Amino acid sequence: MNKDQWIDRGLLDAFDAEGTDAHRLCTIDNGWAERFGHDILISFRTTAARDRLIAGLKEWAKSVDFPIRRVFARFLPKKNEERETPKLLFGHEGENLQTIATEHHLKFGIDFGAGYSVGLFVDQRENRRFVRQAKPERLLNCFAYTCSFSVAAASAGAQTVNVDLSKKSLERGRQNFVLNSLSTEGHKFIADDVRPVLRRLARRGEKFDVIILDPPTFSRTKGGEAFHVESDLEELIVAALELIDGNGWILVSTNCETLNEQALERMARYGLKLSRRAGVFHRQPTPLDFPPGAAARTIWLTLR
Ligand SMILES: C[S@@+](CC[C@H](N)C(=O)[O-])C[C@H]1O[C@@H](n2cnc3c(N)ncnc32)[C@H](O)[C@@H]1O
Repeated sequence: MNKDQWIDRGLLDAFDAEGTDAHRLCTIDNGWAERFGHDILISFRTTAARDRLIAGLKEWAKSVDFPIRRVFARFLPKKNEERETPKLLFGHEGENLQTIATEHHLKFGIDFGAGYSVGLFVDQRENRRFVRQAKPERLLNCFAYTCSFSVAAASAGAQTVNVDLSKKSLERGRQNFVLNSLSTEGHKFIADDVRPVLRRLARRGEKFDVIILDPPTFSRTKGGEAFHVESDLEELIVAALELIDGNGWILVSTNCETLNEQALERMARYGLKLSRRAGVFHRQPTPLDFPPGAAARTIWLTLR
């Protein structure tokens, strides 16, 4: 009997009922398995973890009668430069590596051949739900990647500004709008470094009622400028506070292992102090498919 905690039939049915087929299936010490439609992605730090997840997956699929289409696996390296595109372990070679996953009935393009990340971070599901429920009029999506937060906002009527260094990711973002029959008219897709863009928006006096700050741990622009979340996030929060509307919400989120929610809150308090503002914090519940501490650390900040 496999002792790892795979999601049970009840949770699988609950996801099905809410129109979600992209979620975590199991988390173990050195890896995890996620589902995107009928495709599975195994992420592993050690080959022992990979093999244990493969064995557990077979047993789980049989026990809940889940038809697996393909299984992909990717190694989780310590350094960004060592990141690799997932490899097909099971399924037909030569088949299109793309699929469409759904979350709360919204569609997102998934591409197992486009690089290390496949197109949707499932641990942000509750935060996307929060955005949708907040019904913002204007959302600023910094480090937008494939614009999943913007699709959630636009489905509730928002206009969005999407900023990412990667033109390709923003193009996938546009395609995600199209997949959901959302017009991209009135939405902006800016391929640039977030920092100068925030300064430009502030100079123009622009305001937003939701701002997403979900940066990578480290990145470098084409011009060679480095971004380190541990040292640069505070400055981003200060810049976001310039742009937020009175009753608006700022999401501060990170996967950086050295930053917990208390650290994020300290940074946000520092930003508030510099901007001479007072704020309150909100936390979304941990997604049911994630054990405590396994999803991105996240706080929501609003002005008091
Ligand atoms: C962690 S992903 C963001 C995930 C996104 N928030 C989501 O939920 O789908 C990081 C993204 O930041 C972008 N990026 C990294 N450094 C950047 C910078 N200085 N300015 C703008 N985008 C940047 C990368 O291209 C990548 O798409």
